Order: sequence, then structure tokens, then C-alpha cells
Amino acid sequence: MFFYRIAFILFLLINFSYANDLLKYEQKSKSAIKELSISLQKSLKSVLKESGPIVAIEYCNIAALAITSDTSNFNKISIKRTSLKLRNKSNKPDKWEIDVLNSFEKRKNSGEEISTLNYQNIYTENNEIFYRYMKAIPTVKACLTCHGSNRNPKVVIKLSELYPDDSAYNYVIGEIRGAFSVKIPISN
Ligand code: HEC
Repeated sequence: MFFYRIAFILFLLINFSYANDLLKYEQKSKSAIKELSISLQKSLKSVLKESGPIVAIEYCNIAALAITSDTSNFNKISIKRTSLKLRNKSNKPDKWEIDVLNSFEKRKNSGEEISTLNYQNIYTENNEIFYRYMKAIPTVKACLTCHGSNRNPKVVIKLSELYPDDSAYNYVIGEIRGAFSVKIPISN
């Protein structure tokens, strides 16, 4: 009986510290996503306002990945944006991300709000353990200039020059544009 009690207490302690770690990784992911989302929005908004969509596209082409990689380095984690319908091939989803993006579509179709869609998991890859977190990105009105169906012909031409395989258009408000994806190695 005594042994079972000790075993039970140990079980509780181990799970408690595990849950604590998960919470820590989740908070870290959420704050990095918030930071990246604010930086991207701020830069996009100011370039759009000052120089219009064509310059904004050129700017996104160079700056989006740089801002993303700065956020990764600063927070010592890996963060990216990805989607089932891509513009930039460098944002390609891996198998795990494709599964999560598909599950987000299902959850959205069964009535969940896009802004609350997220998913976390512990994931093993080549014998390495990672914490992974994804958060859906909704399509809002401001995205349609470059991701919608009724785009300015100059925008269409510029985008097809830079991204000949672009499939990130024809989106409508209320669809999932993509997701932020965070990956943190768990060292132990
Ligand atoms: C001025 C044009 C422009 C506007 C407006 C715009 N985007 Fe983009 N978007 C781009 C370009 C260019 C890329 C490819 C650059 C990159 O991320 O590397 C891109 C890439 C993305 C990606 C990465 C996945 C992929 O397809 O490569 C996501 C997610 C995304 N945009 C979401 C949004 C959302 C959400 C909005 C609205 C809030 C928005 N975008 C508004 C031009 C734009």
C-alpha cells in the first residue's frame, strides 16, 4: 500500500512538471507569435500607406522572411508562417503542419472561430523531441489587395513576376489564410 502511495505521488509530480513545461513552451510560442504578427502588420501598413501595393509587395518579398528569422533568433526558437495555399515556397508546410492545417479547416467548418484555432503537441523527429505549436491566421479585408480575387492588374503582374507558382489568391474574408508555426527543441 505504501509503495503504491509513493508511486502515485511520483506520478503526480512528474506530470505536474511536464504540464508546467508545456505551459512554459505555450506561453513562449504565443508571445513570439504576437511579436512577429505585430512587426509584420506594422511594416506592411506603413509601406502600403506611403508607397502603395506594388512597393509593399517588393517589400514583403524581402522583409517578411527577414523579420520572421529575426523573431526566431531573438526568441531562440523556430517560428514561421505557412499555408495549404502558398505564395512563397520558403514557407512550405511539413507533414505535421499539413495535418494541423487540415484539422484547422475541419474545426472551422464545424463552427470554431478562426482567431481561437490553435494546436500544440510534443513531436519526435530523427530521435529529437520538439514542442510544436500552431495558430491559425484569418483572412481579413486588408489581405484581399494581395490575396483576394478582385486584385488590381498591376498587383497581379508584380506577384506573378516574383512568385510564378503563387497559389495564395482567391481568398475571401473569413477563410483561413494560413498559420503561424513554432518549433522548440526539448533538451533533456
Ligand atoms: C501588399 C501585398 C500583401 C498584403 C496586403 C498581404 N500580403 Fe500576405 N503575402 C504577401 C507576399 C508578397 C507574401 C510572400 C512573402 C513571404 O511571406 O515570404 C505573402 C505571404 C503571406 C503568408 C505566408 C504564406 C505564403 O503564402 O507564402 C501569409 C500567412 C500571409 N501572407 C498572410 C497575409 C494576411 C493574413 C494578410 C492580411 C492581414 C496579408 N497576408 C496581406 C503580400 C501581401
